[in-house]
Parts: sequence; structure tokens; C-alpha cells
Amino acid sequence: MENRIHVEVIPQETIEEVRLRTDIVEVISEYVSLQRKGKNYWGLCPFHSEKTPSFTVTPEKQMFYCFGCNVGGNIFSFIMKKENWSFVESVRNLARRYGVSLPEKEQSPREREENRLRRRFEEINEWAASYYHDLLLRLPEGEPGRVYFAKRGVDIDTMKSFRLGYAPERWDGLLSYMQERGVQPHELAEAGLAVEKETLGKDGQHHYDRFRNRVLFSILDQRKHPIAFGGRVLDDSIPKYLNSPENAFFNKRHHLYGMHRAHQGIRELGYALLVEGYLDVIALQNAGFPNAVASLGTALTKEQAKLLRRYTSRVVLLYDSDGAGIQAAFRGGEILRDAGIRVDVLTLTGAKDPDEFLKSYGVEKFNQALSKVLTFVEFKYQTLFREQPPRNIPEKAELVIKLAADILKVSSPVEREGYERFLSLELGLTLEAVQREIASYELKKPNNERVQEYFQQKRVSSLKSRDNITNAILCKDNSVPPLPIVYLGVYRAELLLLRLLLEDISYLPKIKAMLGESFWKVPVHQQIFNYLNQDGVLPAHCDETVQSRLASLFLEELDRSQTERLLDDCIKEILSTQAEERVEDLQARMAALEKIGDMAGAMALLKEIGERLKRGE
Ligand code: CTP
Ligand code: MN
Repeated sequence: MENRIHVEVIPQETIEEVRLRTDIVEVISEYVSLQRKGKNYWGLCPFHSEKTPSFTVTPEKQMFYCFGCNVGGNIFSFIMKKENWSFVESVRNLARRYGVSLPEKEQSPREREENRLRRRFEEINEWAASYYHDLLLRLPEGEPGRVYFAKRGVDIDTMKSFRLGYAPERWDGLLSYMQERGVQPHELAEAGLAVEKETLGKDGQHHYDRFRNRVLFSILDQRKHPIAFGGRVLDDSIPKYLNSPENAFFNKRHHLYGMHRAHQGIRELGYALLVEGYLDVIALQNAGFPNAVASLGTALTKEQAKLLRRYTSRVVLLYDSDGAGIQAAFRGGEILRDAGIRVDVLTLTGAKDPDEFLKSYGVEKFNQALSKVLTFVEFKYQTLFREQPPRNIPEKAELVIKLAADILKVSSPVEREGYERFLSLELGLTLEAVQREIASYELKKPNNERVQEYFQQKRVSSLKSRDNITNAILCKDNSVPPLPIVYLGVYRAELLLLRLLLEDISYLPKIKAMLGESFWKVPVHQQIFNYLNQDGVLPAHCDETVQSRLASLFLEELDRSQTERLLDDCIKEILSTQAEERVEDLQARMAALEKIGDMAGAMALLKEIGERLKRGE
């Protein structure tokens, strides 16, 4: 739909007529189950998740409003938000439905021809999808497809909602089906569904079916119309996938697999899950992640990032954990970040991809992993560290430099300093040294050659090739050991606690009751806290570190509807880290006792550790 860039003006009185004729309760009822209470209707809000209804529709005013997330508007805004249509598309859709005729706009002969071709393209793809789909669902020839999907755990409902299909082992299956419908072979070739022969065959045919003996994934646009297909072999032969070629109406850079459902799912969940494979999307969407999408056999493009940005500002990258997947995550992360999206990375261990992971370990384990995502910078740090642990100060500096570009692009100064501090703690360097190193990199911009060079070198060695032959010899590498997980948690928690205190000093007693007065890990945080604790106000003059920290704290945006929860989360984070540290401390003491042969002492400590762990401390 994004290809259709035309400005269309519908006269104001026509819009008004559409609005008046539309029954807002009727339309919204298709999305929300509404119950009447007095003048209004109530239901569960379709724009945020909730358990008790706070979404209202007022027919009298033809408006809707949610008391939970403060979203509201008229029927056009509802449809635009719910279907991700433009205003004009929403008006057109309702006009059609309620029988309001819109003035046809003048079209040039070229526009008319283009529209005709587009409609034809849509029609052909629609027929093709039905042909493949019916084969898969009910025709005898579809048996191999049914067997394959059964083996992959795909059920009938999924086949239907994703319009999966099967292309039979024939050279003219689709060709003859289409011929009956008046579609010429050259039209099929233009739509990418047939291929022109180089030499005329004995049968006198000039074309043959592109997809043969493959299961087919229909690429559906947001209105659920098929616009292309991806075909997978049933065994290990190559090429593993065959995809529709691009043409005037289909550009794979602009689409994401799974978007027909995910455009709503992403809004509902507040983030998108970006994966590699078609079957990963299907498995995840079925497991309760309607926000899963994948690119179409290419590396993530800027256009796809922009598409995602329309629905969310947060993406969790979930690529295969082999070398190629890691490189894809690096590259994809940069593209997303440059589109203004916050990127987290989820690494699954023990399975080659999300589909396999869900099958082996289930949703619960997946959710656990999801709660431990790393920020893009953390992920990159760990990966680089693991590939080449720095052995001395110059190598540590090298590593800092490799992350400099990513850290410099972080817009929040608080977050940026968080990363700098994280690196300083991780690498045992002073914060000043890390900051100096990063700043020196900044001076060298824009020709950030060093990082570029690193990536180019990596790319040559392990870029995932989607080309047919090479794809077969690239094997998945599951031997990579799991990464140690590093959290910025406590640092962030401290920042947020201070931010909350600055917002509202009445949180002070609770914080003191739960954590005491000297729990702060970062000295400047302790200092600020002490000021607040003593007088409840900040002194007019204080030293520079305090001042700059305060300035950055005030820049931190606070979700004011969530302050209580935020407060509890921060306290919890600090308490649980303290408990972990106590256990680590005990473990260290135990090891020391073992070393000097005090086995009784070591056993006593071991017992204490066990009890603490059992209490969940
Ligand atoms: N892909 C492609 N062409 C290829 C190989 C892969 O277009 N020759 C794309 C497909 O979109 C595929 C994705 O890259 O879904 C991920 O590839 P891969 O992990 O190899 O395939 P899966 O779909 O995950 O297949 P499976 O789990 O069945 O092996
Ligand atoms: Mn896979």
C-alpha cells in the first residue's frame, strides 16, 4: 500500500455524509465486543491490553474514548488506527460500506492504464493463492504439502490464516488453471508466477510454472491480499527457497512477512519481534506473539525499518544464533536505530531458530528469554568480547572504539553515560578513560573508518548468503557457548529512583524503608540522595558532577501514569541484585575456605547459600 503515493481530496460535505451515515457502534463492534450501559457502550480497549473495560463508545456524539490509554476520536480515527489506513482510505472504505458515492477523480490515460494493470496483478495473485491453497487443503495432489506442514506442526487454521499453499509437481498446473480464467501465460510471467522458456519445448508451450513441488508462503499485504509468494522445498534440496521476483507492484524491500496480522499485533504489544524465517513468524504468531515479522529473504532494509517505525519505536531482534545471524543482527540493529527505533536483542540458546525453540522448550521458556533481552550495545559488546577477549589496555581501547559509533548515536545522555559506565566496569577502566576514548572517536567523525573496516572484514567472512548454492554449504553453528548476561539494571534503577524523587519527594520514606540510605552504587547518586534526604531540596551550589548528572536526570522522560510501578520495579531490581551479590560473596568466601582446607566452614557456607537461594533472595 505504501507504493500508492497519491494525494486525493474528498470534498468536505462527502466526508460529513459518510460520517453521518456510519453507525459507529456497528463498525466498532466488529473489533470490540461492546456492552450497553446507559447512553454509552463499554468494552475492552483494542489499543492497549486490559482486563476490565475502560473503552467507551458514545453513539450520540459518534465518538469513542478510552479512559485507560486516553485514545479517542471519531469513526475515521478509529478505522485509521485499527487498520492502519490513511484518512482517505478509511473514508473510502466506509463510503463503500454505507453506500455513499465518492466523486471519481480525473485520471490521466497513464494512470488509468496503471490502475488497470494493478487490479489485474491483484486479481491474478488472488487466483493463484486460491489455487495453491485449495491444493494444500483439499486436493489429492496436495498430499506432499499436507505431509510437510504436518511434520512442521502447522495446523489447518494456521494454513488458512496465513493462506499457505502447495504447488504441485507439474510444469503447467497454474498455467492451465489460469488459462481457464482467461489469464494469458505472458501475464502470469509478468506477475512472476510463470517463467518464459528460452527455447520452445516439444509441447509448443512458451512458459512453465515457476513454483513446482514446493510449499508456498503467501506474502500478504496489510489488507490481507497476496502480492507475492515464497516457496520452500520439501526436503534438503536447493535452492531451499524460491521467491516471487520483483515487479512494478511488488518490491520486497517494502514488505515484511506476517504484517497482515502484525500491524495490529505490534500496536497491541507495543513492540515488534523481528525474526529471520517465514516459519518463525508463523510459530511465534501462533504462540501469542502477533507482533512477529520477518524480512523477505533479504537483509533488513531502510524501507522495512520505516514501515516498522509507523507502528512502534521498539523492536526486539531475534535472529538465528549462528555467525550469519549475529552479523544480520548487527546490521539490522544499525538500520533500525537509524530509523529512530530502540533495539533490543534476544539470543536463544539450544535451538537453531525461534520455531525450533518454541517446539523444544515452549512459550514459558521463550517468555523467560524475552525478559532477558540485551540492549543493542550490550549485545554488540558481548559478541565482540567473546570473539576476541581483550588482553591488555590497547585492546580494551580498541573494543571501546568499536562500540563508540553506537554509543554516540544514543540520544539520551543518561543512557549514553550508562553505556560508558557499563564499559568502564566491564573492562576495568575508569569512566574518564572510556569517555575520553569515545570522545576521541567523535572527533574523527564523519569518516568513522575503523568501525566500517571492521564490519567490512566481518561481512566478507560470514555474511549469510541467500544465494542458492552457497546457502546449502553454510551450516548452522550451535557450538557457540551461551553468553554471560550483563545488566545495566542497577544503574538504570538508581537513575530512575532519583528521577522519581526529583519529581515527588514523598517517595523518600518508602525508598528508605525498603533500601536504607546508603545503598547507592554510583557515588554521585549517593551524593544527590544525601541532599534530598537531608533537606528535601537541592543546594543552590553543588559540584560539577552533581550538576551535570542533575541536568541529565531532568532530561529523562518519565511516564507519569506509571510512577508507582516504576518505583516498585526499581526497588525490586536493587534488592535482587543485592541478594545476588550476597550469594556471590558467600561463594567467594566458601572457595577461600576450601582452599585452606576448612571443609566444615565451607559446608556451613554452602548450606547458607542454598537456603538463601531457596528463599529466592
Ligand atoms: N531465504 C530465502 N532464500 C534462501 C534461503 C532463505 O529467501 N535460499 C529466506 C526465507 O525468507 C527464509 C529466511 O531467509 O524464511 C530464513 O532462512 P532459513 O533460516 O534458511 O530458513 P527457514 O525459513 O527458517 O527454514 P527452515 O526452518 O524450514 O529450515
Ligand atoms: Mn528456520
